[in-house]
Amino acid sequence: MARIVVVGAGAVAQVTVCKLARRPDLFPEIVVASRTFSKCQRLAERYPQARIIPEALDADNTAATVALLRKYKPELLLNLALPYQDLPLMDACLEAGVHYLDTASYEPPETPLYEYRYQWAYHERYAQAGLMAVLGIGFDPGVTNAFVAYAAKHLFDEIHYLDIVDCNAGSHGRPFATNFNLEINLREITQPGRYYEDGRLVEVPPLSISQEVRFPEIGVRKAYLIFHEELESLVKHFPTIRRARFWMTFSESYLMHLKAFMNVGLTRIDPIDYEGHPVVPIKFLQKLLPDPASLAPDYKGWVSIGVQLRGIYQGKPRTAYIYTNIRHEWAYQDCGSQAIAYTAGVPPAIAAELMISGLWKRPGVWNVEQLPPEPLLERLPAAGLPWKVVVDYPLDFIDVPE
Ligand SMILES: NC(=O)c1ccc[n+]([C@@H]2O[C@H](COP(=O)([O-])OP(=O)(O)OC[C@H]3O[C@@H](n4cnc5c(N)ncnc54)[C@H](OP(=O)(O)O)[C@@H]3O)[C@@H](O)[C@H]2O)c1
Repeated sequence: MARIVVVGAGAVAQVTVCKLARRPDLFPEIVVASRTFSKCQRLAERYPQARIIPEALDADNTAATVALLRKYKPELLLNLALPYQDLPLMDACLEAGVHYLDTASYEPPETPLYEYRYQWAYHERYAQAGLMAVLGIGFDPGVTNAFVAYAAKHLFDEIHYLDIVDCNAGSHGRPFATNFNLEINLREITQPGRYYEDGRLVEVPPLSISQEVRFPEIGVRKAYLIFHEELESLVKHFPTIRRARFWMTFSESYLMHLKAFMNVGLTRIDPIDYEGHPVVPIKFLQKLLPDPASLAPDYKGWVSIGVQLRGIYQGKPRTAYIYTNIRHEWAYQDCGSQAIAYTAGVPPAIAAELMISGLWKRPGVWNVEQLPPEPLLERLPAAGLPWKVVVDYPLDFIDVPE
């Protein structure tokens, strides 16, 4: 039994809290601390059977977080705010002696470039303090890393090619919306595409490479190569991987809107002067568009996220596809959420259980693939995220030089 602190009260945090609130045996007290107090209060009201304590917190202010942690003395802090808060929250956890997890790697506000080096630099300090930090435990990154670790342990002697494939085939009925925080989402998509090949990071213009991919239950969809942070840690921890790429599908309408926003400068992250006031266009755009959590009631259709792998097993070539398919309606029924927030919000709740129960207990800073994948993967189906392994899957939609 442990007291925990959840930082953030947005689309992803709402799902994690929904799951944590069902386990008073493990989490008798959950502090939900975020910038907007009313959102924390709403969560406390939504789950009266759990003991949820709402708190206002500016997580950029390390001293304020340390004071909160000293007040409640939790075992673990779940960072479900934004990537900008990763470092101040990791500092606060170190100072207050609290374990840490997050769902997205740090990126500096002024540079849209995810890199793990900022957080990996904390490894020695966490190890010496006897504290554990788990990085990127959402779905992608998170479960996708565990899928690769599982495949490396149980299905392959060597993995050579990795393609992470992510398709949201659902429809929310709005002309344009993002499925998680707009600013973070559009920064990710509009930066150059990057992938790893033969030990090099290859950079291409944004959304300039696409390929048709067949998704279970969905069929063939056009997927675009984008950079995603788990590629960096996976090629480091599985050095037999010769090429690692990430693919995401977008509808024609989504791309049409995105291009228009880019063309007129609405995705800019630098402040512009508007009548004497500094305005950051992407933050302004976020104010105009729907809150991702608000899409949930109308969202219908499938989401499929998985890893497609090629390598060798017992001297012979082998392919495998490990994936999760869920419907937006299921996520709504379970937690009142849409499926993207759901896939990202369920894994941190499981990770919290593993960390406080000691099943994941290792001082230092870790990516998910460095931890035993089985306890996480075993718990996913009952938590609402079924997954499937298909060995010798015909990966005919992913080109592989052999
Ligand atoms: N790994 C994955 O699979 C995956 C998938 C999707 C998203 N994610 C990550 O999940 C995180 C949350 O995404 P989301 O869609 O839930 O975003 P969101 O709906 O915008 O929620 C973010 C929450 O963080 C709070 N926040 C922001 N800055 C803060 C600060 N300085 N101090 C305290 N609280 C602060 C926000 O407060 P306000 O309510 O005041 O705005 C909001 O409650 C993001 O980092 C995203 O990259 C991971």
